[in-house]
Amino acid sequence: MAMMLATRISRLLSHFSAKPAALKDVGIGLRADQGFSFRSLTPRGQRFYTVEADPVDGKAVLITGCDSGFGFALAQYLHKRGFTIYAGCLLKNKGDSGSKELDGMKCDRMRTVQLNVCDSEEVGRAVDFISDTLIDPEAGLWGLVNNAGISTFGEVEFTSMDTYKEVAEVNLWGTIRTTKAFLPLIRRAKGRVVNISSMMGRMANPARSPYCITKFGVEAFSDCLRYEMHSQGVKVCIVEPGNYIAGTRLYSPERIKTIAEKMWEELPEVVRQDYGRKYFDEQIAKMESYCNSGSADTSPVIESIGHALSAPIPYTRYHPMDYYWWLRMQIMTHMPAAIADRLYVY
Ligand SMILES: NC(=O)c1ccc[n+]([C@@H]2O[C@H](COP(=O)([O-])OP(=O)(O)OC[C@H]3O[C@@H](n4cnc5c(N)ncnc54)[C@H](OP(=O)(O)O)[C@@H]3O)[C@@H](O)[C@H]2O)c1
Repeated sequence: MAMMLATRISRLLSHFSAKPAALKDVGIGLRADQGFSFRSLTPRGQRFYTVEADPVDGKAVLITGCDSGFGFALAQYLHKRGFTIYAGCLLKNKGDSGSKELDGMKCDRMRTVQLNVCDSEEVGRAVDFISDTLIDPEAGLWGLVNNAGISTFGEVEFTSMDTYKEVAEVNLWGTIRTTKAFLPLIRRAKGRVVNISSMMGRMANPARSPYCITKFGVEAFSDCLRYEMHSQGVKVCIVEPGNYIAGTRLYSPERIKTIAEKMWEELPEVVRQDYGRKYFDEQIAKMESYCNSGSADTSPVIESIGHALSAPIPYTRYHPMDYYWWLRMQIMTHMPAAIADRLYVY
């Protein structure tokens, strides 16, 4: 039954392919090879967004994690659209190239801020700095984009407790810490909180538990906050990007190798012996393959965040991802697990 359904879905999707939908293993299941998307039907392989936008008028937005990736690109994009940007950078004090380049724009509407979301004092200093430098402090801060994040991989038995805690410290507690600190300013503006989750915050995957649990947590936190903030006039949006690893600094081949070596060295002897090096290396190769299969064009993500910050009625959730992942997410979140698991996991 499951196989029949899979065949039907593949057939249906192949009608929309630029090329025949050859399937390849990209680490966490079979997916269609390059050229497979609905791009010919929708410009970004995703739904259309309303083009309506409220006037920007220099509204101030804080973005965390602007040293690279989405954060860095978003800071430039929103600045171009007329927002005043506070770009939180983890490595500003160390002179990282991301913050240097943003500072190099030499524009009053682009300010970088030293910001480690795991450090309460640094977050507090960022609140003071932004409160003191807002052009109209009474108007508050229009937007907070919780973008800072790290990622890792590894099956449950391969992952140390320290790794679980390390990833949660940035992705989950960092998001909550920063949000709580800036909410008074956001409430004053009746503004927006945009949390960058992931498709992995909606559907779990083998070998991604240290990352998935943090993004599931971000989703739950965002939902609770949205309910609570409704009466305050603050909107809370969640952006769930697909695989854009090729366009960001989240992983590099070197980083995957470093993580893998450390993981193998730290494995309990019983796990090492039971699974063996061959199995372990195969899992690492799957992760490498997944990282190489993403899109380098991050504009669907950046435009989704832009929409969340400027549309009169933003969406609650944005899904910037190609159609393979969109469909997989719908199936995994809406169909009985017995079917979804058969289709995509086992
Ligand atoms: N790329 C994807 O495919 C993808 C998919 C779904 C969701 N996401 C999410 O998108 C967000 C942005 O990631 P990205 O893909 O753009 O990767 P990225 O290029 O690595 O950007 C993440 C940024 O966060 C910074 N950061 C790390 N720890 C921090 C901390 N404690 N405080 C403040 N900043 C910190 C990183 O600085 P360093 O580089 O100096 O560590 C980096 O500049 C993350 O939340 C990620 O989980 C990414």
